[in-house]
Amino acid sequence: MKHAEAIAERLAYLGVTPTTKPEPIFVGESLKEMIERDIKDEEGAIKLYKTIIGAAQKEGDITTARLFTKILEDEEEHHDTFISLLEEI
Ligand SMILES: [Fe+2]
Repeated sequence: MKHAEAIAERLAYLGVTPTTKPEPIFVGESLKEMIERDIKDEEGAIKLYKTIIGAAQKEGDITTARLFTKILEDEEEHHDTFISLLEEI
């Protein structure tokens, strides 16, 4: 949620309206299935944020690149946490 707020604030600063359409929610049948989905979602976010960082750097938008670099660090930690959880079940 903190990430969404930070991204929305950055988009507002840039004069862009963020989407209000949420993605469908996946509910797994088991804990293992839910964690596997979380890992995939984190991998998708990591890939997306790396693309955004590259685009921001190309545009010379240092603030956006820095914001997404920080968020990327958090997502990589989440990914690591879910990998560890999956190994424990
Ligand atoms: Fe995450």
